[in-house]
Amino acid sequence: MELKPIDLSPPVITEAEVEAVSAVLRSGWLTHGPRTREFEEKFRALVGASHALAVSSGTAALHLALAAAGVGPGDEVVTTPLTFAATAEAILYQRATPVFADVDPVTGNLDPAAALKKITKKTKAVLPIHLGGYPADMAALGTLCSERGLFLVDDAAHAVETLCRGRRVGTIGDATCFSFYVNKNLTTGEGGMLVTPHADWARRAAVLRLHGMDRDAWDRYAAGGTPGYDIIEPGYKYNTTDIASALGLVQLTRIEEGYRRRLELRKAYDEALADLPGIELPPRPDAKSGDRHAWHLYAVRITGECPLGRDALAAGLRELGVATSVHYHPLHLMTLYRRDFGGREGQFPEAERLGRERLTLPFSAAYGPEVARDVAERMREVIERG
Ligand SMILES: Cc1ncc(COP(=O)(O)O)c(C=O)c1O
Repeated sequence: MELKPIDLSPPVITEAEVEAVSAVLRSGWLTHGPRTREFEEKFRALVGASHALAVSSGTAALHLALAAAGVGPGDEVVTTPLTFAATAEAILYQRATPVFADVDPVTGNLDPAAALKKITKKTKAVLPIHLGGYPADMAALGTLCSERGLFLVDDAAHAVETLCRGRRVGTIGDATCFSFYVNKNLTTGEGGMLVTPHADWARRAAVLRLHGMDRDAWDRYAAGGTPGYDIIEPGYKYNTTDIASALGLVQLTRIEEGYRRRLELRKAYDEALADLPGIELPPRPDAKSGDRHAWHLYAVRITGECPLGRDALAAGLRELGVATSVHYHPLHLMTLYRRDFGGREGQFPEAERLGRERLTLPFSAAYGPEVARDVAERMREVIERG
């Protein structure tokens, strides 16, 4: 019997999203406009941030955050190698240098002690991520930055629901960058949000978001608006659309529901995988710490006790229709970083070990607990077959 394929992270799109997007399509105003303003305001309120700017991607949010921080040529930004391309790439967009530091062996997040060792006179900012939704150690990184006059910018692509010691991600760093890419906990297809406590950063990012113009199209078009604008510096085309924002507004209303569903899925996985040999369950923060894991990813570790290595297990699962992924193959071992930044094997042992051992399993609010049990059964079959 053909097994039903299980995707990695399908989005949850309901009739409400279809209705909201259709209403924008019928309205005659498709780009950055009233729905985007509303989305910014509601997202800002959800997070508890001071300023929120909707942009075309999480990558754009990272780029604008670093530009607003004044990161430029010759500056260094300390970040994690265990991340997606965009985190370090945004540093390169500003002609600055990404300086990697190793990660915590359990959480996979930037290790503050390792980051500290990489600080030089050229360091301008520290850029952690909340890997898979697990809160980065923002308290230690915040102290490290404030004592040295560095900016703390966090990549919260996985972390809409994350709390660090009771504080919501988006209220801690100098800027926080969210992604609404299609696999994220809140999706607009493509999109992102930059939040910051600094009014001047928000103003500058708003100008850079749209060609360096002092006013956007909706400012000029809306009732009372005038058509003129000035260009005050070279900017980018990073604005989003009301189509995407309408989708985001509906997704926002289901954020907590999606989180609860993923918690149930996480529990079901923990139970179903418990007796599989060499499968180490994902770490969980201590509930008393005030840390909250957003559970964006469910990534197990394949240890030496598993009869199959990580890649063989992933290949076996693929044959049985189960999609998996690796978050992440460390960036310093990619050709670009080997060639231009001296990346080499053995440089960041913890990131490299996690890069070899982690396997991300199908995980989404679209899935009920039966999907976790089904994936675990197929894993058992692959392991028993050897
Ligand atoms: C950790 C991390 N940072 C940044 C990004 C970039 O986000 P986007 O795809 O919206 O540009 C992603 C997206 O996958 C991500 O996972």
